[in-house]
Parts: sequence; structure tokens; C-alpha cells
Amino acid sequence: MTTMTDLITQLEACHQHHLVDYLSKVMPESARKAIAAQLGEIDLDQLGIMIEKYVRNYTPAASAGKIAPAQYYSLDGDWDKASFKAKGEELIRASKIACFTVAGGQGSRLGYDGPKGCYPASCVTGKPLFAIFAEGILASQEKYDAVIPWYIMTSPLNHDATKSFFAEHDYFGLDAGNVQFFQQGVMPSLDATTGEILLADPMHLATNPDGHGGAFKALSVSGALADMRTRGIEHMSYFQVDNPHAMVVDPVFLGLHAFATDSSGEFSSKMVAKASWDEKVGVFCDVDGVTQVIEYSDMPEELAKQINEDGTLAFNAGSIAIHAIGVGFIDKIVSNPEYALPFHRALKKVAYFDLSIGQTVTPSENNAVKLEKFVFDGIPLAAKSIVAETDRVEEFAPVKNATGNDSVESSKAIQSERAARWLESAGVKIPRKADGTVDAIIEISPMIALCPEDLSSVDLPDSIEPGATVTLE
Ligand code: UTP
Repeated sequence: MTTMTDLITQLEACHQHHLVDYLSKVMPESARKAIAAQLGEIDLDQLGIMIEKYVRNYTPAASAGKIAPAQYYSLDGDWDKASFKAKGEELIRASKIACFTVAGGQGSRLGYDGPKGCYPASCVTGKPLFAIFAEGILASQEKYDAVIPWYIMTSPLNHDATKSFFAEHDYFGLDAGNVQFFQQGVMPSLDATTGEILLADPMHLATNPDGHGGAFKALSVSGALADMRTRGIEHMSYFQVDNPHAMVVDPVFLGLHAFATDSSGEFSSKMVAKASWDEKVGVFCDVDGVTQVIEYSDMPEELAKQINEDGTLAFNAGSIAIHAIGVGFIDKIVSNPEYALPFHRALKKVAYFDLSIGQTVTPSENNAVKLEKFVFDGIPLAAKSIVAETDRVEEFAPVKNATGNDSVESSKAIQSERAARWLESAGVKIPRKADGTVDAIIEISPMIALCPEDLSSVDLPDSIEPGATVTLE
């Protein structure tokens, strides 16, 4: 057990003099114990190294290696979609696929008071994001006559609220025994100038979830991975909580991931063609022959702007954070320290308790460094990783911001557009405005259709009136 003297020595060594002073002060024993206990759970030697690297002496890492566009299975490419679809369907039917949703983020940009998955996101009925996925899973289980367990990663900041939300809604019709929640780890939030660990209040350190890349360790230590093994799960269908268009299980993609000769079945990804050279999405690149995602902020501008002969962007493969991940890959990553994912630093606004004035300060500018791991840093650790193109409207309608790009409003417009396309493909006449956008708001529940083909067995109207609001559920 760490004694107070040891703790003080460790804190001194990593420049946490404010905490040394605080712990030495006359203060309620309960507060001292609480802070000491939280500090005792942190590897302070390791944190000290990270504070030097990411705060006190931070220099952005220069990208190493020769960067080329990543190869991908293009939508109109000459590959046997039907055969991969059949193979993927076999995996789903054999109950070898689980869904895995990362929902531990803080959702600070959305500014919603609750876990992001509880946000009412569907364009007509305002269904919560969690409900949309649950319906997708229910419908897929029925379609493939299979069990598709759902693993949801939360963080200590939203775990209880997330679980209560599911309980209140009776698990949206899913069998509660097939839905498992587990928590990711946290990291202390650091003052961006000094590297000092911030306090949330006099009793608590300020912490942030350790990024979606915390998923690998959390899957393992929580027992979720062991549960998958017991159930005979071989691959996970990974998606983020804020994309209501993510296909909960996509047989074509899963088939490619598990059976394509250029895939090791460890870590595969979907991409969409970038909307513009400066769209804020990571890009799949080939760095010295290895596939990886380069974050938009790290992508050299001259490469991002590079154009092919046909006018398309050379670095066109935007990441939409949809992956297929082999269960065995997680074991490989967590059991070998060489495969530890790197941390990334993010500058954020973090409210903190200022010890010098004894008050909480809510900053108007970024004041803190959060250290996070990213799940896509697992890609280069796979023996062979493939990327498959998908259509943006079909699978990417992110709810990140309160307004503007990737907002609730833009997501709802994309949802209506997808529903309109599906109905058009089934012969329904859709009203469109002069600019081509849909002149109606249309929601199709996953219980009615998971893909346009599913509409063939549904009673549909011949047309939709301009300005109408339509729900198919
Ligand atoms: P984002 O990077 O959009 O972060 O997460 P966020 O926390 O949701 O939102 P902001 O940046 O504070 O506005 C993308 C996905 O990764 C999950 C999120 O829940 C979301 O599904 N995530 C993110 C985690 O599960 N854990 C994390 O530590 C961070």
C-alpha cells in the first residue's frame, strides 16, 4: 500500500506541487483520504512521463514514413459482393457476431445533459440513439434467426445513467441477458500550461474517459471478452453511439472482414469518399505498406489536397468509425505490451476547482489537456487490414454538434434522404425541392426495413405528399 510519504514523493517527482500543498493542509480527513485514494489508483511514474511528453515539453510528432492512399474495396469495384454477403450471413446465422458500441464519451459538443445514446435522434418520432440500434439488432435477430449480443462501453461518468435508461425502457424489447455494459478507464485531466492534475471539486480529481481506444483493455478486464468466448462469438461489429445510420450487422462487410484473402480477420474498416479535402475526418492511408488512419489534423495539407487525373481526391478514404474486429485480436493486443496504443492529446475546456482561490472556475478557452487512446490505432497492429467503401447517406449521419455540420439537424436531413431513396427504389414517388432535397420528413423504423430490399414485403403508398411527415413503423 502506498503511504502518504511515498505519495508525496511521487507527486513531487511529477511536478504536482499543488497537490502536495493541498494534502499537507489542515483539511477534513475524508477529503484527504478521498484524494489520496484516487491518486493511489494512478501510475504516477507513468503519468509523470506523459505530462512531460504531452504537456510540459509537447512537440507534435512529425509523421514518419512514406504516405500513400490506402487501397480499398470500392462500391462499384469488381469483387464478388454476393459471395461475401453469403459468407457474412452464415456468420450472423451461426450467432458468431456481436455488436459493440462505444458510448463512453462525454458528448461535450452536443451539450446534452445525459449519455449521448439517450439523445432523441430519429427524425420524426425522436427515438433515442440506443433505441434505433436496439431495433436494428431485434430486426436482425429475427431476419437471421440468430442471437446477436450487444456490448456497450460506458464510462464512470455515464455508466449508471446508461444502465437505468435501458432498464426504464425495458431494454427496448431486447433480452436483458444479451445486453452487457462495461466501463472504460479514465485519465486525470491536466492543466494545459503546467501539467498539474486538475480537481473537479475539493474531494475529486477531474478525470476524462481514456478514449475509445480504451475499449481494448476494458473489453478484456471487464470480462466482456470472456463472455463473448463463452457464447462462441468470433467477430464484433463496432460502431459509435452517435451514428444512427450505422448498420448493426452488415453481412457483406463481415464476410469481407472474415474471409477476404487480404484480411487477417482482425481489424477491418469502412470508409466513405471525403466530402472535401478539408473535411474533419481521419483518412485511411498506407504508411510504408501498412494501413492506418491519419487524423485530419495530422494530414499534411499538400497530401490532403492532392487530386487524381479524374479530379477526385487522392486521399479520399474518410473514416466513419465503423469496424469489424476479431475477438482473437483483442487478446493479441492486450496481452502484449508492445501493442500498447499511444495516447493522443486533446485541448479542451474543463471546469476545475482552483485551490488558490477555493472556487470552481468555468473557463471560456481551452485550459486542459485530455489524454485519450483511439481505437483506430489498432489497425496497423493487424496482420492484414482491409477497408471497404460504403455510401455516405446510407451509413453516416453523425450527431456530434448542437448545430451546423454533423449536428442533429444535418443528421435528420440525411435520415430523411436515406428513407426517401429506399422508398424511391421500391417505386414510391417522393416530392423533392428544386435543389433536389426531400420535401418531406420520413422515418423508417429498422423493424420495418434494415435495407431497401426489405421494403419489398411492405405495403407502401404510391407517393408521398409535399411537406408531409411520414413514419413507417
Ligand atoms: P467523440 O470523439 O465524438 O467524443 O466520440 P464524444 O466524447 O462523444 O464527444 P465530444 O468530443 O465530447 O463532443 C466518438 C465515439 O466514441 C465514444 C463516444 O461515446 C462516441 O460513440 N467514446 C469517445 C468513448 O466511448 N470513450 C471515449 O473516451 C471517447
